[in-house]
Amino acid sequence: MEYRLLGRNTGLKVSELCLGAMTFGRETSEKDSYAILDAFAEAGGNFIDTADVYSRGESERILGAWLSNQNRDDFIVATKVRYPMGEGPNDTGLSRKHIITGVERSLERLNVEYIDLYQVHGWDPLTPITEILRTLNDLVRQGLVHYIGASNFKGWQLQKALNISREHNWEPFVCLQPQYNLLARATEWELLEVCRYEGLGVIPWSPLRGGWLSGKFKRGMEGPPPDTRIAIAEEHGWGERWSNYNNEFTWTVLDALFEVADEAGKHPAQVAINWLLCNEAVTAPIIGARTMEQLKTNLGAASWRLSDAQLARLHAASDPVVSYPYDPNAKWQRERD
Ligand SMILES: NC(=O)c1ccc[n+]([C@@H]2O[C@H](COP(=O)([O-])OP(=O)(O)OC[C@H]3O[C@@H](n4cnc5c(N)ncnc54)[C@H](OP(=O)(O)O)[C@@H]3O)[C@@H](O)[C@H]2O)c1
Repeated sequence: MEYRLLGRNTGLKVSELCLGAMTFGRETSEKDSYAILDAFAEAGGNFIDTADVYSRGESERILGAWLSNQNRDDFIVATKVRYPMGEGPNDTGLSRKHIITGVERSLERLNVEYIDLYQVHGWDPLTPITEILRTLNDLVRQGLVHYIGASNFKGWQLQKALNISREHNWEPFVCLQPQYNLLARATEWELLEVCRYEGLGVIPWSPLRGGWLSGKFKRGMEGPPPDTRIAIAEEHGWGERWSNYNNEFTWTVLDALFEVADEAGKHPAQVAINWLLCNEAVTAPIIGARTMEQLKTNLGAASWRLSDAQLARLHAASDPVVSYPYDPNAKWQRERD
């Protein structure tokens, strides 16, 4: 495993693959979660991402129990706040009250004295951005949190937040956690541009789009195989559900993925993750795994590189339709690159 700086604005070295803990306590039992964490650490991984809302705190609790048997300082622990943790009007969002309660509860569940990377899980249109950023700045000053990051922002929201932090000399967001994968490339249009110009690290979530890019979905299938995330996504209304992705664009991307995987002699999941690793704007994809076997496969995405021709094949198949105002900008960006 190699290590990369978390963007140009920190000296923090994170493993090039981050382990996502969203399945812990959900599709993955506590015992299997410990085994996955052990194997990730053995492979040299030091970067782990969770959120308060994952299984209503269970994911953080499982990670905390595992960390209590490790040297905590060896790991970069990332978590998030924003989504509802109760039914009350203040149990959600990014008010000062919810952030401070959120960080206190996360520290307890994680059983740690500090969180390395505290991320807002999304924009909150109800709370003034100055209230959010001032509160996050206070957490860093208190030593409860070392760095702050944002997830699921739009381009203007991220740039506005960075400008306000700069104006007030507050701690800025040092990284962005967007959805980014071969089936979701609109992330490139503004978000990656902001990150590139501002030096933010980028840690893409759902590098396999919840399993779509894992190799088990093939053109001609009538529906998702049982016992897969996609099979249960429909009833939960999750974004990766079959009805959202069973379309010609997805199957065209998958055709290219299988072709490149065959040629490279790699698993399709490894190709999809390596495609992200080959992008200089990306710091560390957050890999998900329900089982140990999946983790082992996904760890094999690191320490090699797709050829330029293979990257071009994947790019061509996955290029989304670009509409105004992104179309002339996309052309100018290609000319600059
Ligand atoms: N910020 C956000 O809003 C946000 C949102 C989502 C996720 N995240 C973060 O990103 C992390 C990763 O997201 P994700 O779980 O959606 O990642 P993903 O890699 O896109 O999907 C993981 C799922 O794909 C299947 N899979 C993974 N590897 C496989 C393999 N080698 N072979 C076959 N199937 C495989 C498994 O599902 P099945 O086997 O059950 O089909 C697994 O649970 C999360 O843990 C979380 O930390 C953040």
